[in-house]
Amino acid sequence: MSRTSTPGASRTTRTTTSTRTTTHPRRRGRALAATLAGLALTAVTATAGPARPASAAPVHEDRTPQGRTLGDLAARHDLAIGTAVDPAALIDPRYRSIASTEFTSVTAENAMKWEVTEPVRGTYDWSAAERFMAFAERNDQKVRGHVLVWNNQLPAWLTEGVASGAIDRAELRGILKKHVQDTVRHFKGRVWQWDVVNEAVTDSYDAVDGRIGYKGFWAEQLGPGYVADAFRWAREADPKALLFYNDYNIDAFGDGGPLDKTAFVYRMVKRLRENGVPIDGVGSQAHLSTRYGNYSAFQIADTLERFAGLGVATALTEVDVRNLLPAEATSDALNPLLQAQAFDYSALLTGCLASRHCISYTVWGFDDNHSWTNTWDFGSGPGREALAAIYDTGYQPKPAYRALQADLAYSAPPLVQRRIPQRPTP
Ligand code: XIL
Repeated sequence: MSRTSTPGASRTTRTTTSTRTTTHPRRRGRALAATLAGLALTAVTATAGPARPASAAPVHEDRTPQGRTLGDLAARHDLAIGTAVDPAALIDPRYRSIASTEFTSVTAENAMKWEVTEPVRGTYDWSAAERFMAFAERNDQKVRGHVLVWNNQLPAWLTEGVASGAIDRAELRGILKKHVQDTVRHFKGRVWQWDVVNEAVTDSYDAVDGRIGYKGFWAEQLGPGYVADAFRWAREADPKALLFYNDYNIDAFGDGGPLDKTAFVYRMVKRLRENGVPIDGVGSQAHLSTRYGNYSAFQIADTLERFAGLGVATALTEVDVRNLLPAEATSDALNPLLQAQAFDYSALLTGCLASRHCISYTVWGFDDNHSWTNTWDFGSGPGREALAAIYDTGYQPKPAYRALQADLAYSAPPLVQRRIPQRPTP
């Protein structure tokens, strides 16, 4: 699967507001711990020199931007910073520590996908998803539910049943409705944003008859109407979750023509909204590669603003930036890649910060050990485009991580304002 698209943008504005707020006891707890540590330090300095007022900031605490987590730096913008999490990786204390402290939102990388939750027809297995949810809840992190309707990672009983004719069209529609509603009901009240429909449309490189259209299993079996159905079914099952359409290669508008995927998705969302379908958000996965050149923050901001003009929130949902691995891992070869990568991560974040309806920025794995790019084939062979994360294999922050910190720390009104929370469409 390669990830390319064409740049270009236009702009509209919007006015939707709402009042959703959340509190973060985890950070309250941390502030208390810091205060207690500060008090102990105050007592020591009081005997050794002039007393400091008890309310003064503890001197040992690193208040520099580079001493603070991404999640904390983003909180003053009301922006959630997320990561995909693999529950199996949580046994590594270094993985667990970064996943729980740096991020205020999490997405299950695979644990909520259909092949995992219903491997045998009618028998649900929520164990991996529940391990993931327990982690999120322990750390007071907002959950992006991923994913309800997708063409990939479907259970064999479903795809084989359809292929053999054992499951007909009417039954399949009922199966999909049940899957969507059982899953949403199971997690009701615990999921902030659901990816209801994922990757429903073609790219320019696999467009049929020279135009972008609907693709894959569900459109072939049920026709494109399944998209609206899925949102309605999800809304019935949870009136409060934010319901998202999620896709890749929609980072920037192209020429608006038949091969412009972003424009196709834009028109699709516009139609859904006009028809009263309860869609609340558009997720741009943002799987980028340094081999394709860079979007500017302005292109990203303009695209997000234009979607927001339809009345939906936006989110960057699966950010990573791959590098074509050089023949030799010398610093001469790696440094330019790491810098180009930092630029892309930063352009996406700055663009998101600039649009008040962009409510979360999620990386698809945070370290180079656990990134799906290590094995995926993006067209150059499995694992040939990798090193895509913001921490290296030794869990050290890469230039991309420092760029994100700086973006969050050094952005302020009037150009960057607090997020406007999205209200679920009834
Ligand atoms: C990927 C996972 O990261 C891999 O572990 C898995 O083998 C395949 O799927 N778009 C999506 C995600 O919406 O669910 C995909 O995740 C990456 C592309």
